[in-house]
Amino acid sequence: MAPWSRWPHLLLLLGVGRAWVWPSEAPKDIPFERSSLFREVDFTGKYATYGAADTWFPSWGSDGNLYSPFTDGKVQDVTSASICHGASCTSTTGYATIKGEDPLNLTISDVGVASSSTSPYHGRYPCGSLHVNGTWFYGTYALDNENHQPGDRLGATRGGYCENWCIQGPFIGFRWSKDNGKTWNEPRERLKSWNDTLFGESAPNNHSKVKFGAIHVVDLGKALQYTPAGDREKMMYVIGHGASSPFSPQSWMQGSEIYLARVRPEIQAVNDRSSWDFYGAQSWHKGDVAKAEPLISWANRTGVTTMTYIETVKRYIVCVSTPTYSPFTEQQFDTYLLESENITGPFRYISYLREFGPQAYFVNIPSKFVGDFNPKDGSLRLFLSYSANFDWKKSAPKPAGSGYHWALQEVILRGSHPIPSTVV
Ligand SMILES: *[C@@H]1O[C@H](CO)[C@@H](O)[C@H](O)[C@H]1NC(C)=O
Ligand SMILES: *[C@@H]1O[C@H](CO)[C@@H](O)[C@H](O)[C@H]1NC(C)=O
Ligand SMILES: *[C@@H]1O[C@H](CO)[C@@H](O)[C@H](O)[C@H]1NC(C)=O
Ligand SMILES: *[C@@H]1O[C@H](CO)[C@@H](O)[C@H](O)[C@H]1NC(C)=O
Ligand SMILES: *[C@@H]1O[C@H](CO)[C@@H](O)[C@H](O)[C@H]1NC(C)=O
Ligand SMILES: *[C@@H]1O[C@H](CO)[C@@H](O)[C@H](O)[C@H]1NC(C)=O
Repeated sequence: MAPWSRWPHLLLLLGVGRAWVWPSEAPKDIPFERSSLFREVDFTGKYATYGAADTWFPSWGSDGNLYSPFTDGKVQDVTSASICHGASCTSTTGYATIKGEDPLNLTISDVGVASSSTSPYHGRYPCGSLHVNGTWFYGTYALDNENHQPGDRLGATRGGYCENWCIQGPFIGFRWSKDNGKTWNEPRERLKSWNDTLFGESAPNNHSKVKFGAIHVVDLGKALQYTPAGDREKMMYVIGHGASSPFSPQSWMQGSEIYLARVRPEIQAVNDRSSWDFYGAQSWHKGDVAKAEPLISWANRTGVTTMTYIETVKRYIVCVSTPTYSPFTEQQFDTYLLESENITGPFRYISYLREFGPQAYFVNIPSKFVGDFNPKDGSLRLFLSYSANFDWKKSAPKPAGSGYHWALQEVILRGSHPIPSTVV
């Protein structure tokens, strides 16, 4: 684990540190109105980094700890690799417990990996994760490449029109643990067929698109503390990027749409497709993924999507990362933030951060580290959680702290006419 940098802290204490604004540079065809609540993302220069792996999506458990997946790298002495390897196309996916109240000084413990087969796909990666009332639900999804041949190993992973993992496969389903990861129950250790997946979706070739691939659990606070308007009981919501047109680029990083679904967070319901509600055309459809329709559409400009509810401003904030240069996944990435008072939108955009990272991905806002809203200047302090630059070495990390690890980067969201943003 890399020690967190003490430099920014020190500079701030000395008064040298300044928050600086990342300019919003939205493409002309952005399909959202501008938010009037927040219009600016300021970076304070405070950050911490942990591990040497990506795919961090922390969930705030009832016991106060965070629980997160990770993969494709090393955390402490544990290595995880989610590409098909070995005779039975094994994928390992990492998990870790994260303790502490200070995002700049967290302790990672109980690190391990779970194994399953990628077959018939070539990669099986972590996605949505929820730890609630002692049960940890841990989702995986499939990835593939347009040029793969059955049984092909190397060469199956790279190359192709988008450069890296050019087919987003289906969401496979959740494994679960009742002992914080010591033992897992995995209903689909090896898929029986392309569509042996929780929602029944599949991507056997380059032109079959899925609505739900890399889903992420909406962060509704500690142990799903907050309940969206209209719900009578606690629900797990999942959000993710998808596509529907056969020629729409759809990789782990890119899609043209965003979809939403929900279920009661109980083991039996979570594993039963007929218990899921899929959102489409202003209503919920029980058990039928075919009825899911996009919550958000933006051609070639959606990608890895997460959502967090922030009670102090009563807003759902969505983070989306997408290739700067469609459809390329080994170049820079953009990240944009949306907000709505409703989990089903409509959404307004806060800011469009072009080449954030310059190649940041898996951006999310852990509710545990959201500060108070300051009504005097309309500012909200929080931490962006992300990884960056897995294949980008042509320019320096921006902001500092971005890299192939778990980064927690402090930012301040601000409205349109508050105090100058140059002073922390
Ligand atoms: C970091 O956390 C550890 C364990 O909680 C604590 O012992 C240590 O004093 C903390 N360090 C700083 C710089 O806050
Ligand atoms: C967790 O347990 C508490 C106490 O039993 C209960 O009130 C709450 O609804 C449970 N949460 C979920 C998501 O099941
Ligand atoms: C997979 O597809 C086959 C053929 O269309 C269908 O019979 C089967 O029910 C599907 N399985 C799932 C899990 O949706
Ligand atoms: C796969 O689909 C993408 C996006 O439509 C397209 O650019 C690419 O040429 C396709 N590749 C093959 C091998 O058909
Ligand atoms: C999206 O990407 C595809 C494949 O590169 C391209 O054919 C299509 O025109 C793009 N759509 C838009 C609206 O840019
Ligand atoms: C949120 O959406 C629900 C369901 O569509 C609707 O009943 C409610 O009025 C909306 N709330 C707001 C604040 O827009």
